[in-house]
Amino acid sequence: MPASALPEIRLTARAAEADASVLAVPLFDSDPLDGLSYVDEASGGALARAVAAREATGASYEQWWDHLGASGGWRIPRLLVEGAGNRERWTLDAARRWAAAVTTAVRHRRHASVALLIKDVSDGPTARLVQALVEGVVLAHHEVGHLKSAPPELPQLQHVTIVGADGSDGLSDAVNRGLVLGACTNLARALGNEPSNVLTPRELAARARGAAEGTSLSVTVLDEAAIADLGMGLLLGVARGSAEPPRLIVIDHNPPGAPSQPVLGLVGKGITFDTGGISIKPADGMEKMKVDMAGGAAVIGALRAVSLLGAPIRVIGVVPATENMPGGKAIKPGDVLRGAAGKTVEVINTDAEGRLILGDGLWHARQLGATHLVDVATLTGACVIALGRMMAGLFGGPPAFVDAVRAAGDLTGDRCWPMPSGDEYFDQLKSEVADMTNTGGRPGGAVTAAVFLKQFAGGLPWVHLDIAGVAWSDDARPWQVKGATGAATRLLAELALNPDLLRIT
Ligand code: BES
Ligand code: MN
Ligand code: ZN
Repeated sequence: MPASALPEIRLTARAAEADASVLAVPLFDSDPLDGLSYVDEASGGALARAVAAREATGASYEQWWDHLGASGGWRIPRLLVEGAGNRERWTLDAARRWAAAVTTAVRHRRHASVALLIKDVSDGPTARLVQALVEGVVLAHHEVGHLKSAPPELPQLQHVTIVGADGSDGLSDAVNRGLVLGACTNLARALGNEPSNVLTPRELAARARGAAEGTSLSVTVLDEAAIADLGMGLLLGVARGSAEPPRLIVIDHNPPGAPSQPVLGLVGKGITFDTGGISIKPADGMEKMKVDMAGGAAVIGALRAVSLLGAPIRVIGVVPATENMPGGKAIKPGDVLRGAAGKTVEVINTDAEGRLILGDGLWHARQLGATHLVDVATLTGACVIALGRMMAGLFGGPPAFVDAVRAAGDLTGDRCWPMPSGDEYFDQLKSEVADMTNTGGRPGGAVTAAVFLKQFAGGLPWVHLDIAGVAWSDDARPWQVKGATGAATRLLAELALNPDLLRIT
């Protein structure tokens, strides 16, 4: 893994003391100058005039640049007033995105450093805010275009100063968490962007080994023979249509002194390309199906963070990896497969392949001793229709576990929204010839996919995250370039780092 240097993060109480090329200040759309009078003074009153003239309104991501006079002995020559929207909606997630947008703007102007003025958020303490800001800074250092012969060059920032927080109260831990979680999200994004001719199942396994470098993780990769020995007919069935052999990637974080439970099993869909198989997809937009391993990438990135940050519990990552191709040996509609759990599945549609490989993956995580299961997958177009591109679908039970995952999503910016997964939906999966079908028709397509997975969770506390709508961004945003987003990476790590969330009844 190319270790790209990240900016040094500094903390200081007062803006006047900061050494940076730019001071970035959040401006809210109501009462914009609240608490900013000293910044206005340093601008010689220009900020207040800009607000009065409505050149700077505080609308989200609006930018207003100015010079700062040396009055008051400030060392920072430039001011960026970056709109922060509604003060009531200034959350950890808003602050994270604000910091990413600021960092991107500052890099584009070829400045080498920035000072970020912090403003309290409504949903977390200062340490959390510092962590979120640092995550935003790191996310804005994510590079795409490494396959271009002349990769676009944007300078990395040399240092970033967070103003309004000094070095006390464990804030240096918060900085470190932000650096690690930002970088591990970027790792997942880089995997998601990688074309499928580069990122084959074998290469994904190699990248998982690379992600474990410098950590205490142990990585085991099962080849097609070992997968067959375990009886994983669902994973092998999907892999049959491809010339590339499948892999089962297992990443173990087992710290000394870890309690016997909870043991968190994280299972990520690793389809390195989804053509649909014999039930082939239309050509339009099919290139985006390289991101169908985003769930697996999130698991790999999260495990790296979990190890680097020393999560106190055992975490087992399982990533079944294969292409879904329509080769001559491919499974066909009507074929029946038997998974490692012993259940048989009638394949109605070969494009519903994610749930097949995850069925075997969930079984394997249980075999390895997981007491709590979370699977993550770009699973259904139906989830995109239901929830759009803002939130992942959240399924599972018991409700306290679902609530805990949702809370982790809110803290980390990997937002998700609860959906049903009750047994009444299993009627749609009834088969004449096997224990179940792999599709339940169009109604409730995201729900029946979840209910299929539930059959493999063995009654354990289990959550399924459908990230089909959030794993890829078609549009550049002020806080995020186009492409893979690294969705769910930070959420998964949060569950392990904050095991109170798993202490459920
Ligand atoms: N990988 C797709 C789901 C997907 C859709 C991911 C859009 C990202 C964006 C999945 O394997 C799939 O093809 N699902 C089918 C299921 C159907 C055949 C029951 C779908 O959603 O159409
Ligand atoms: Mn598919
Ligand atoms: Zn798929």
